[in-house]
Amino acid sequence: MELVQFGCEDWLNVWEKSATLDIAQSTIEALSLEEILSFEPDGGKAFMAKLMKEQFSYGWIEGSPAFKTEVAKLYQRVPEDNILSTNGATGANFLSILGLVGQGDHVIAQYPSYQQLYDWPKTLGAQVDYWQIKEENGWLPAIDELRQMVKPTTKLICLNNAAQPTGAIMTPSFLSEVIEIARSVDAYLLCDEVYLPLDEETDYAPIADLYEKGISTNSISKTYSVPGIRVGWIATQDRNLCYEFRKIRDYTMISTGVFDDAVASLVLKHREKVLARARQIVKGNLAILKDWVEQEPLVSMIFPKAVSVSFLKFEELPPNKTEEFAIQLLKETGVLIIPGNRFDLPGYARIGYCTDEKTLREGLRKLSEFLRAYQK
Ligand SMILES: Cc1ncc(COP(=O)(O)O)c(C=O)c1O
Repeated sequence: MELVQFGCEDWLNVWEKSATLDIAQSTIEALSLEEILSFEPDGGKAFMAKLMKEQFSYGWIEGSPAFKTEVAKLYQRVPEDNILSTNGATGANFLSILGLVGQGDHVIAQYPSYQQLYDWPKTLGAQVDYWQIKEENGWLPAIDELRQMVKPTTKLICLNNAAQPTGAIMTPSFLSEVIEIARSVDAYLLCDEVYLPLDEETDYAPIADLYEKGISTNSISKTYSVPGIRVGWIATQDRNLCYEFRKIRDYTMISTGVFDDAVASLVLKHREKVLARARQIVKGNLAILKDWVEQEPLVSMIFPKAVSVSFLKFEELPPNKTEEFAIQLLKETGVLIIPGNRFDLPGYARIGYCTDEKTLREGLRKLSEFLRAYQK
């Protein structure tokens, strides 16, 4: 089994701790336990009192009833029984792909997107074809190309909606065309949905509601702002598939643990408040990012629609210098970005703009300064 390095994760593992101005992360500024507890009418007193007495056994194996109830509210067609908790969305993707794909299977994956969605099936021996995203399409791939790529043997199509690193969104009408193609060859559709668009206008729906062979993976890491609680989930209408996934869970994780399950359930119970906070950060910071891009001639961007990742284009930097530039930027200014070559797109960079406002403003200011100094 040969597993290639995870480009963006490897970059962050090496460099993120040396950053003083981190504008690379895809999360929304993370919540503390104190902030989460403050969403409770009694400030979390009853919740904490109960948790203090709770035995730290394995807890509920697939997720507590409270957790499943909260997650099921995010879907219209997924019963509670068809929701399985996982170790983050990474765990959900890992497990679903392991459950679906084997040696020689044909898989199509939106590319580039979250690397796990194509390199993990490849490692399992699948033949993976890339459904290429295109800048001129607002970073979406072309439906006609997917139509030409599917084969009668296509087992799985992997999507990321909204997508990393660009923030591009597949609307339900776009997805209905993808589903029609998947259905024509009886393929499963796995969609990593950790980035929920946070504006009210964008039309959005989870794949598990749209397609009988759709698998939605998600977590509380990104839109819900709590990546330090390692809880995600798989949701699907397909009961038989859930049984297959259950078998793998017993080999890979057992449960997410009592503490993580309890906090994740609380976060989801208060999702309206969590999302309102996230919406405010995304909206305010996106305006700052837009102002900066518009007055900075050395960069351009197809702006995301209320999604916490964005993808910057360097107008004059030679693409083969992207990583060298990002390392020097970090060393000389403390500003962390993720160079686009880590997503197989040199000449660009991921900007995680949903950090605190001061870091964002200062990070962008120093990035501008350094762009000038570097290009001299
Ligand atoms: C698209 C996507 N899926 C999954 C993850 C990881 O999610 P989790 O923290 O829930 O494992 C990331 C993290 O960057 C991501 O960008």
